[in-house]
Amino acid sequence: MNMYDIIKRKRDGFELTAEEINYFVAHYVDGTIPDYQAAALAMAILFNGMTARETGWLTWEMAVSGDTVDLSSLQGIKVDKHSTGGVGDKTTIAVAPIVASLGVPVAKMSGRGLGHTGGTVDKLESIPGMTVRIERDKMMQIVREVGIALVGQTGNLVPADKKLYALRDVTATVDSIPLIASSVMSKKIAAGADRILLDVKCGSGAFMKSMDDAIALAKAMVDIGEEVGRTTVALVTNMDAPLGEAVGNSLEVMEAIDVLKGAAPADTTEVCLELAANMLLLAEKGTLDECRQLARQQVSNGQASEKLRQLIAAQGGDSRVIDDYGLFAQPAYSEEVLAPQSGWISSMQTELCGMASVELGAGRRVADDDIDPSAGIMLHKKTGQWVEESESLATLYASSPSLFFDARNTLLSAYEFANEPPHKTPHFLARVSAQGVERYL
Ligand code: URA
Repeated sequence: MNMYDIIKRKRDGFELTAEEINYFVAHYVDGTIPDYQAAALAMAILFNGMTARETGWLTWEMAVSGDTVDLSSLQGIKVDKHSTGGVGDKTTIAVAPIVASLGVPVAKMSGRGLGHTGGTVDKLESIPGMTVRIERDKMMQIVREVGIALVGQTGNLVPADKKLYALRDVTATVDSIPLIASSVMSKKIAAGADRILLDVKCGSGAFMKSMDDAIALAKAMVDIGEEVGRTTVALVTNMDAPLGEAVGNSLEVMEAIDVLKGAAPADTTEVCLELAANMLLLAEKGTLDECRQLARQQVSNGQASEKLRQLIAAQGGDSRVIDDYGLFAQPAYSEEVLAPQSGWISSMQTELCGMASVELGAGRRVADDDIDPSAGIMLHKKTGQWVEESESLATLYASSPSLFFDARNTLLSAYEFANEPPHKTPHFLARVSAQGVERYL
């Protein structure tokens, strides 16, 4: 067997065998297959797709390409959550404490920002003192003591995805359904939870731009999870506009805390509560309606924000930030972005909002860029709202005024205006589980 023949067979539209996929993953991880051959295979997969069997084999080989986490010593049903990536997606920071405050153990490994999408790990690191670089034993100890740990990927977890993802990021091969499905599910399988809730983002700020593609991705991931005995549910959620008002690391943490105080924008609140309810459902805490009620109750009785306080303290952070946002690093400069005309905001190119926040320093252009935790955007107007000419669309925050020029132009190019208000679309577009697909649109 050799890599040239594997690439050629995929290029010519054949189904790869389990042995060929095993050969590719093993030898890509051990360094004997070079990046240029892996990139050629990724491109052939992007063009020709993969069968469900191939995607399943690839996922499994990646999942076992390094260490795996054993959560069996933790009591109860362990439920994990994963978002496929969006703009302003701060849901984990609110959802995980809600769920943990009801006794569902959460041992969650999150990623860093990628391209125009933010990452939970970067957001958490904007909390003064908070560390996410926590070894496995310490993570388990924190979950035993406070019921929740949110950490970065430590050790040698899914090295195949680490290498392949970095390669896909620079070879225009990210937005392939089998490659995303295997990347996400290999990490979830290796991370050891019993049940998995997926938030598949759909729209102009997501990797999946259309409903059909988002549902196909959701189905592929649900099938993989069920195949390996992990009950998996996917909610397809709207990413045609940034979620909430905050885009940027500490800004998003503040908005997530606001969810737990009942003070967040309506869309962020609705999405967080529904994700939490679905995690609780997977943890067998009641019917979906009972779980929705439980999630709301944990916010109003203050137990969810208390759980976040315990989590921050357990990971070395200053939990006083929950009451005093002035303890976050403060941005040195701010600038308003004014509407160029009056009109209804008919749509937003959400990916450009993410790019504008990267230009302000909130994300990375290359893997080892530093990020500025206080940089970002507060959106005052989004799709479906009326704006007057010269009214503020957004406030930009950055460490230097020189960063505003490009970011302002990028953000302005994200907005489209019309004389009529656009049709309203729901935040939840579909639910995909082993029972089938329910479309809400
Ligand atoms: N998130 C992942 O973890 N992997 C992908 O390929 C895309 C989004």
